[in-house]
Amino acid sequence: MKIVTTITDLRTELAKHRKSGKTIGCVPTMGALHEGHMALVKKSASQNDFTVVSIFVNPIQFGKNEDLDKYPRRLDADASLCAKNGAGLIFAPTMESMYSADHQTYVYNEPLQDLYCGQYRPGHFRGVLTVVAKLFLAMQPDSAYFGRKDYQQAFMIQKMVEDLNFPIKIVIIPISREKSGLARSSRNEFLSTSDRNNAACIYQGLCAAKEEYDEGEVSVEVLRTIVRGAIDHSGGKVQFVEIVSRKTLLPITGELTEKATILVAAFFGVTRLIDNIEL
Ligand code: PAJ
Repeated sequence: MKIVTTITDLRTELAKHRKSGKTIGCVPTMGALHEGHMALVKKSASQNDFTVVSIFVNPIQFGKNEDLDKYPRRLDADASLCAKNGAGLIFAPTMESMYSADHQTYVYNEPLQDLYCGQYRPGHFRGVLTVVAKLFLAMQPDSAYFGRKDYQQAFMIQKMVEDLNFPIKIVIIPISREKSGLARSSRNEFLSTSDRNNAACIYQGLCAAKEEYDEGEVSVEVLRTIVRGAIDHSGGKVQFVEIVSRKTLLPITGELTEKATILVAAFFGVTRLIDNIEL
């Protein structure tokens, strides 16, 4: 598996494939790859002639007290997983090749960046949108693949692509889950065995709320309480449970009258997990 570390080398490499008429799919990641990431890689490989996976732990999307330093890094294992699943190239840029010392330009989404995850992670979505925009400009893929697990992120990337007219098709892949229902995440490996078992309650709570909704419950408060209750009961600490419009991502209060998604963030030990379910 070829690994390039600078934008110049990436462009040289991709130009060869583009010249021969190949379509290019890209999968942006921060590494520590698992089956969830591989679902994106497989989808890209099935829909494109050539797939490039970027692996970059993007410092500007981490807050000061977050887990940037301890975020798992294992490029060799990641590269062989990508090779097995149909990727043709890894772009693993150095910090210097992504951000010069005097980097000043960022991408914002004013109404959405401070909601939900953004409320508790100031600057996070500015960091995500900026790095994804830079990756898109460096890779110029035909299609780009993101997971529904990071619902707000996927929504905001789609919005950025629409607003800034990136000529890129965005494909969103369903959440890949462990057997217990826990959404796969690079951060799951920080969980103790008991927390990992207990954290399955997040998905159980989401499913219970969806069942109530399917049986006619439309009260946002009742549905949120079901999810909160399941997490509290298992020893997790809820950060937020919100029900949001699928069209605008804005919060819904009162009664549900439009297509909506439940977003949740909760701590198990010191590990923050997120999940969601479409109603
Ligand atoms: P990372 O957390 O590594 O995730 C990379 C991609 O894999 C994201 O699109 C994410 O939604 C998807 N993914 C992770 N776990 C998944 C699961 N269980 N099921 C489905 N998809 C899953 O998200 C990021 O990196 C970064 O913010 C990034 C977009 C790369 C920008 O730095």
